[in-house]
Amino acid sequence: MGLDGRSLVTVDDLSNAEIEGLFSLADEMSNLMTEQSDVCRGKIMASLFFEPSTRTRLSFEAAMHRLGGRVITAVDIGATSLAKGESIADMARVVGSYADIIVIRHPWEGAAKVVADYAGVPVINAGDGGHEHPTQTLLDLYTLVKERGTIKGLKIGLWGDLKYGRTVHSLAYALARFGATILFHPAPGLEIPEHVARKLTREYKGELKKSDAMNHAAKQGLFAVDAIYVTPTSPHQLAMMPDISFEVELEKGVDALYITRAQKERATTTEGQASDKAYPVVDRRMLKGKEFRETLVMHPLPRVDELAYDMDSDRRSKYFKQAALGVPVRMALISLLLGSKTLDVRQDSETFIRKANYPRYDRGYGVRCGNEKCVTVNEGKYIKPEFEIVSSQPLTLRCIYCDHEVFPKYVASSEWHDGTIERKRYHSANSHWARRIKPENLIVFESESEAQCYGFKPSKYAGG
Ligand code: CP
Repeated sequence: MGLDGRSLVTVDDLSNAEIEGLFSLADEMSNLMTEQSDVCRGKIMASLFFEPSTRTRLSFEAAMHRLGGRVITAVDIGATSLAKGESIADMARVVGSYADIIVIRHPWEGAAKVVADYAGVPVINAGDGGHEHPTQTLLDLYTLVKERGTIKGLKIGLWGDLKYGRTVHSLAYALARFGATILFHPAPGLEIPEHVARKLTREYKGELKKSDAMNHAAKQGLFAVDAIYVTPTSPHQLAMMPDISFEVELEKGVDALYITRAQKERATTTEGQASDKAYPVVDRRMLKGKEFRETLVMHPLPRVDELAYDMDSDRRSKYFKQAALGVPVRMALISLLLGSKTLDVRQDSETFIRKANYPRYDRGYGVRCGNEKCVTVNEGKYIKPEFEIVSSQPLTLRCIYCDHEVFPKYVASSEWHDGTIERKRYHSANSHWARRIKPENLIVFESESEAQCYGFKPSKYAGG
């Protein structure tokens, strides 16, 4: 089975079985690390990094060199024609005519998807704003598998900036899919975003429970968590657990602690100042508790102050190993997307998860993404906003570029013109009438005045 010609924009672009197959190939690639192979000879990778990077850019470039391919690179947005006002789409078309594969890091959420839509060659998302960083997740999972043999059933603590940390978002989705339990320990004010939490429960069918255990556990001298996600293999456990049972779970030990720095480049000034004062720090003293006796200490790096240097010589610390594993994992990925290697995967029901397939809202009006860092907001001249209708109650549309959700207040049906102009009515999105509208006929409005601008009159259900 091949991944030839595919792109990796979000971690959900790969099934569990494909990820497992990629890890087997990464094992093979580890043997090529000291020599240059000819797996990708004659191929060119464009490496476009419009935000700072050490690990991701250099490990991708090292990976392509190890595979016998060549690299062209741009690292300063100001030195490209984007600075003259060129669109991401035009840049993608042109770079796609120079290179066989593109790796892109960009500050706007959804930018990698736009490149993938226009380039005509495989595209790898190396980080799009605070949205996702799927290849970091691949090497994080690979590290866990190397250390623990499996991901299923592990208890993983996510620590620090869970709001803007793109590595955390991709990792949380993947951990949920592979059946891990996730313990959330955010810095104050930097909790996991609601849209990420909802995706975890909606897509991966586990249960997320906000926890009073932060207080209970802290009193017991245990790791404090503000929420816990439990895998669908044992959801009944969580449903039956009073908060106090979190401590029982924690006493059994935390398998890995995934620490992240404050993403100050994305935070507001207030959030930045708050995190300066109260950002949690991991050091040997903090990891003295019995629940951390065998805990793997992981970090996507770079670290700032949240992970003490006294951990570097600790047997539990794996963050430099994690970074090193980025090369064989990225070698495997590049060679698969270029069709130079194929996968030997099991596609049984347990390990093959497909992306959820929701109806789309793509009328291009009535709603826009509310995330000011979304590429659709910043490149609105040619990108039509597009959403997945992920819930009808409450009506929830999720941006296909950045995953942020919008909750339109008013709806109408496109079937109105079958009748008289008088039937051109809008309704409250909460009304029972709204729920009768088929997704393909749905029209949404952010306000009554917008509905009226389009010629709709209020129905008797416009008030809710
Ligand atoms: N982990 C990671 O993305 O590191 P860089 O920002 O250095 O690429």
